[in-house]
Amino acid sequence: MNTIGPETKTTERILITGGGGQIGTDLSEALAKKYGADNIFCSDVKFENTIRDGIHELQLNVLDESNFERILEDNKITTVYHLVSLLSGTSEKKPLLAKNLNLNPLLFLLEKAKAKKIERIFWPSSIAVFGKGIPKHNVSQDSVLHPESVYGITKLAGEELCRHYHDAYSVDVRSLRFPGLISWKAPAGGGTTDYAVEIFHHAIKNQLYKCFLTEYTALPMMYMDDAIEATLALMSADPNAISVRGSYNLGGVSFTPKEIANEIKKHFPDFTITYEPDFRQAIADSWPSSIDDTPAQKDWGLKLKYQLPDIVNDMILHLKKP
Ligand SMILES: NC(=O)c1ccc[n+]([C@@H]2O[C@H](COP(=O)([O-])OP(=O)(O)OC[C@H]3O[C@@H](n4cnc5c(N)ncnc54)[C@H](O)[C@@H]3O)[C@@H](O)[C@H]2O)c1
Repeated sequence: MNTIGPETKTTERILITGGGGQIGTDLSEALAKKYGADNIFCSDVKFENTIRDGIHELQLNVLDESNFERILEDNKITTVYHLVSLLSGTSEKKPLLAKNLNLNPLLFLLEKAKAKKIERIFWPSSIAVFGKGIPKHNVSQDSVLHPESVYGITKLAGEELCRHYHDAYSVDVRSLRFPGLISWKAPAGGGTTDYAVEIFHHAIKNQLYKCFLTEYTALPMMYMDDAIEATLALMSADPNAISVRGSYNLGGVSFTPKEIANEIKKHFPDFTITYEPDFRQAIADSWPSSIDDTPAQKDWGLKLKYQLPDIVNDMILHLKKP
C-alpha cells in the first residue's frame, strides 16, 4: 500500500465529509501529506469503510446524526472539513433537500464545537451568495448579499450561522467563498461552473462540446491546486489574524466560455463548441464576473499561482496521461 507520509507533526485528527467529491478528492490527499494519512478520516455517503493509501475511508451520511456523532467520538476528531452540499444546479431542482443537506449538518457541527467536542471547522461557501444589487466587477468583501438561487440562499444562511457561532460562542469556524473550481481528478458535481471542467473531457476525446452558458458569460474560476493551497493557508492561520468570520472572498481568475475554448484550441485546433444556455444561465447572470479578495491576501497571505493558460496546460497534461 502506498501510504502518504506527514510533512508536519500534529495532534490534529481530521474528518472530511463529502470527501469523495470534486474538492474532497484533492483535499484528502493534501491533508494526508501535511498531517499524515493515519490522521485523516475521509467520509462520504458513497464510500465503504476501508483504507486507501493509508487514509481511513468511512461511510457516513451526514443526515444520520447518531452515526456522525459516533464517528467524531470514536476517532477523537479535532477538526472537520465539512464539504457536503447540493450544488447550485441540483439545489434549484431539489430545494427541500438543499435546505436540509446544506444547513442541518453544519448546524450539528457548530453545536459540537460550541460544546467543545471538536476544535475547528472548515466550511466552504460560494460566490453564489452574491446576487441583486452588486456591481458586476471586482465585488468587495462587504458587498450586499441578496442571492438569487436556492443554493446561494443556503450558503448565505450558512455564513451567518458561522459568524454567529464564532461571535457568540467563540467557535473557531473558517470559510472561503469558492469561485467555480477546475480540476482533473474528480468530475464536477452539479454546479453552474461545471462547463469549465466538462469542456476538457470533450476536447481530449475530440468531441463537440455544447456549453450550457452563453459565450460571453464571464465568471470567476480557480484551479483546484490554488483552492487547496488557500484552504490550508486559512486553516493554519493565527486565529487573531482572521478578521472575516462569515466567509472570505476568493477572486481566482475570470474568463468566459469563449476565452477558455480559444485557449483549448491552442492545444486542439479542431476543437468545436456550441452555446445552448439552459436554466443555469439565469444563475450565472446573477453572479459577479470578478471578485476582490484583498482581505484574504492581507489577513493570511492568499496567493494565486494559476492563470487561465496555466490551468489549460495543466488540465490537458493530466487528462492526456493514459
Ligand atoms: N466545486 C466547486 O466549484 C465549488 C464552488 C463553490 C463552493 N463549493 C462548495 O464546496 C463543497 C464541496 O463541493 P464539491 O464540488 O466537492 O461537491 P461534490 O458534489 O463534487 O461532492 C459532494 C460529495 O458529497 C457527497 N454527499 C452527498 N450527499 C451526502 C450525504 N447525505 N452524506 C455524505 N456525503 C454526501 C457526494 O457523494 C459527493 O461525493 C460544497 O459545500 C460546495 O458548495 C464548491
